[in-house]
Amino acid sequence: MHNYHFTPGVVITGGILLSIAVLSVYVSRVYLPAKIRSAYLKSITVLAAAVETKDSGTVGHAQRVAEITVEVARRLGVEGSELERIQYAALLMDMGKANVPQALLNKSDPLTPGEWAILQSHARLGAEMVAAVPFLADLEEIVLHHHEFCDGTGYPSGLAGEQIPLASRVLCVAADYDAMISDRPYHPRPLSPQEAIEEIRRGAGAKYDPRVVEVFLDMLAAEHGFSEEQAKAA
Ligand SMILES: [Fe+2]
Repeated sequence: MHNYHFTPGVVITGGILLSIAVLSVYVSRVYLPAKIRSAYLKSITVLAAAVETKDSGTVGHAQRVAEITVEVARRLGVEGSELERIQYAALLMDMGKANVPQALLNKSDPLTPGEWAILQSHARLGAEMVAAVPFLADLEEIVLHHHEFCDGTGYPSGLAGEQIPLASRVLCVAADYDAMISDRPYHPRPLSPQEAIEEIRRGAGAKYDPRVVEVFLDMLAAEHGFSEEQAKAA
């Protein structure tokens, strides 16, 4: 078992999760009217935003990543409730950061091996948190593996290729792209979208699933004003 020290942030997060759990019982037993579904999504969004307040530069990150992830997944043929599941996972993927010290999240110097291990623990802790909520339990694997790389060099399990859930492979590309173009303590300036596209392209087949990268670039070309050439030849 993991010996986590539960900070006030985790206790608050746990309280919010408990509220979601109570709501989820209602949701699972009653036909889901639009208002309830919308309230449920808002609860998850608020929880994601609460965690983001610890991490400078990440406010809005989960929301943007969720939008990108859902669109890429749709283009990969995912539909219906599975898309909704992926949206929830995108919003909650970094919830485990509630237990990572704020100073470490905002550190601009390179992390020591010990600090890196603490940061990496957010994937496993986030998975344990969603697993504790019945309505979210099936997000566990997606959250657990959202930092795995296709060549097996990611964490926490070193999974490779299709061993990694498809949703996690999409999340990895979406989250990295958004981080690259955003202010972060660990890089001197945000990359331009073109530079970030180049970085993502370079990682296709190594860090990232090449099929996911292809669909992601198609999406940028179609929806964000990049020409096919810019997105694909960057
Ligand atoms: Fe993460």
